[in-house]
Amino acid sequence: MTAKIKPNTQIIGQNLVYFERLDSTNHLAMEMYKYQLIENGTVIYTDEQTQGRGQMQRTWKSAPYENLLFSIILMPVTNAISNPFLLNKCITLAISQFLKEQLPNAKVYIKWPNDLMVNNKKIAGVLIENSFSGSQISASIIGIGMNVNEHFGESSEFNATSFVDIKNEVSDKWLIFEQLLETLDTFYLQLMNEQSGTIETLFNQSLLGYQQLEQFIIEGQVIEAKITGCDADGRLLLMHNNTTNAYLHGAIQQIIAA
Ligand code: BTN
Repeated sequence: MTAKIKPNTQIIGQNLVYFERLDSTNHLAMEMYKYQLIENGTVIYTDEQTQGRGQMQRTWKSAPYENLLFSIILMPVTNAISNPFLLNKCITLAISQFLKEQLPNAKVYIKWPNDLMVNNKKIAGVLIENSFSGSQISASIIGIGMNVNEHFGESSEFNATSFVDIKNEVSDKWLIFEQLLETLDTFYLQLMNEQSGTIETLFNQSLLGYQQLEQFIIEGQVIEAKITGCDADGRLLLMHNNTTNAYLHGAIQQIIAA
C-alpha cells in the first residue's frame, strides 16, 4: 500500500508502509526484521489492530481508523542507543514535547516509564521490543499508539483521553502523524549525537510528579514518596523517609489524582 504522508525526516519514516488491518504493527515489524525485509527507520502503520500489544502483556485497544497505530524499526548504530532505556527516554520525551506543542493549554507529562499523560489521562503509550545479537541490541521495534479521534469521555474505564476529547474537534490524523514522525526523527538524531545527558535531564523533568510528594502502591501498601529521577536501567528512583530506592516497572503503581 502507498503511504499517505511524506514526512520531512532523515531516518524515521523515510520508508513508510501502510496496512489497513494487522494483528500488531510490532509483530509485523519484528517478523520483517527477522527476514531482513526492512531498512533502518522504516515505519509500519495500520488503521486497525486485532491483537494490539501493550506493556506488561496487556492488550492495546483502539477504535479502527480513529487513532495512530504504528511501529518504527531502528537498528542502532552507536553505543548510545544500545541502552534500551535511553531510547525509551528519547522517544517518550519526543512525544511529550510534541503533545505540548499540539495541546498548549493542557498539562502534559510522562508517567514513568512510558505513558503519555494529558490532564492526568493517558493519550499515548509506547512499547519498545528489542532483538539481540549476543548481548548487543541489533534492532529496536518502537510501537506507538496515540489516541486522536476516538471519544473516551469523562468516565473512561481506562483513564484514557484523546485529541478530540481535549480539543472538542476532530483532528487531521495524517497531519498529526507526519508532524509526530518529524519530532521523533529530530530527537533520535539528537540522541545519536548526545554527549551531555540533556535527554536524561529533560526526561526526568517531564515525569509526572517529579520532585513532588506522590502516592504509590508498593507491596500492597500506599506510601508517599518523592520521584527524584530514573537510573540508567530505567528504574524509578523514589525518596521515602530520607532513603532513595530504585523500583522496576511492575513493582510499583503511581496513584493518579482524578
Ligand atoms: C502501553 O501503553 O501499554 C503501550 C501501548 C503500545 C501500543 C502500540 S499500538 C502500535 C504498536 N503495535 C502494538 O501491538 N503495540 C504498539
